[in-house]
Amino acid sequence: MAHDECPAMEKESTVHDLTKRFASRASRRGVLKGGAALGIGSIGLGPIGSRLAAAQDGGSLEVFSWWTSPGEAPALQALFDAYSAAYPDVEIINAAVAGGAGVNAIAVLQTRLQGNQPPDSWQTHIGRELIDQYVVPGYCEPITDLYTGEGWTDVMPAGLVDQATWESEQYSIPVGVHRGNGFWYNKQVMADNGIEIGDTMTADDFFAAADTLQAAGIPALALAMKDTFPGAQTFENTLLGSVGPETYNALFQGEAAWDDQGVRDAADTYAKMLDYVNQDFSALSWDQAFALIIEGKAGFNSMGDWAYGEVVAKDAEDNIGWVSHPGTEGSFVLVVDSFTLPVGAPNAENARNWLTVLGSKDAQEAFNPIKGSIPARTDANRDLFSTYHQWSMDSFAKDALVPSCAHGQAASPAFKQAFYDASTAFVTDKDVDTYIAMLSDAAAMDAEATS
Ligand code: GAL
Repeated sequence: MAHDECPAMEKESTVHDLTKRFASRASRRGVLKGGAALGIGSIGLGPIGSRLAAAQDGGSLEVFSWWTSPGEAPALQALFDAYSAAYPDVEIINAAVAGGAGVNAIAVLQTRLQGNQPPDSWQTHIGRELIDQYVVPGYCEPITDLYTGEGWTDVMPAGLVDQATWESEQYSIPVGVHRGNGFWYNKQVMADNGIEIGDTMTADDFFAAADTLQAAGIPALALAMKDTFPGAQTFENTLLGSVGPETYNALFQGEAAWDDQGVRDAADTYAKMLDYVNQDFSALSWDQAFALIIEGKAGFNSMGDWAYGEVVAKDAEDNIGWVSHPGTEGSFVLVVDSFTLPVGAPNAENARNWLTVLGSKDAQEAFNPIKGSIPARTDANRDLFSTYHQWSMDSFAKDALVPSCAHGQAASPAFKQAFYDASTAFVTDKDVDTYIAMLSDAAAMDAEATS
């Protein structure tokens, strides 16, 4: 049975109900914030007034992220709600900066950190992004005592904890595990065009479907280059499909050559895929491109499962199917979101409490059904999750886990930037030789920097 044919299960409605509940809580918070913004005092306001007055007593908590899309924002709100339920007298300041994969947020944060103005906690991926960009330069406090006190090491896979660890200390708490190598499609569009999708797809399956869609005037691959990361992400997925998980890891670890034939084959395949993209790709953000899939205006989208957050937000569960990006079944591209404790956090105690909430079973069970990711904790109640989430949980348990470079986990920040730059150029010039040369040069510079 293809994944898209799974009967709508009770769990789907659980997710749906959760989403609705959080959406209504979110708007209640909006009212409070509006009142505060208007400078309405506490006198004579009854319960709202006392809540406002109380909010000042606990101080504030500034949380920095890039979660602003229709699917991301309600998921972030679920975390805020979990925090507010435990600490109702703390005012939360949502300092999110728009731009998928943090393309803008990471730069804004860097300026703040260099200027000694950290927020109270920020979103980052475990692995090289956390360690190279924030821990080694001295921007993060260790939170090892929280790991010990909360028993997190017992309930999180060692591989994830390792990627949050530097010199035996833990520095961030993972809140959700995204699968980066999803290939999403609109079931109705496929049915209307006589395209059958099985449990997996090869690149050739994709090209056959793409020709049919193209003949019907439908772009087969939705691409979004406004926030640039999809260019790099679609390539890393194609690369994984071409060379397999071992060589993929070896490449990002500097142990395999980028001018290898497998990389060249991946670039050739990617170039061919780019012949089927929507014309307006440079103007669209990732969620706008994914909306083309939901609205039936494009065929497929290669995207991490934050896309499933858009599906949930738009009640599109029944009409959206998925497989692994062609050729990548058996692998799970890790994109693990986590939050940090800064050196010099303005509200350190509130920040530590925030991290404690994020590591809790309740918060992870509330957040991940809306976000599209699976909990980092392994003790979450599976029944709270959709068919898609359960599919991803199974993949996480049995497949090869490989970190994403497009989302900062696999390689140094400098290599990631070069990977973006080379991929952005390739999306328009499709010049395989130049692409390979740029990637090889970046790897050589990276090796030199670390030698
Ligand atoms: C990733 C992040 C996800 C999602 C995505 C698109 O880097 O891990 O949570 O937000 O970017 O913005």
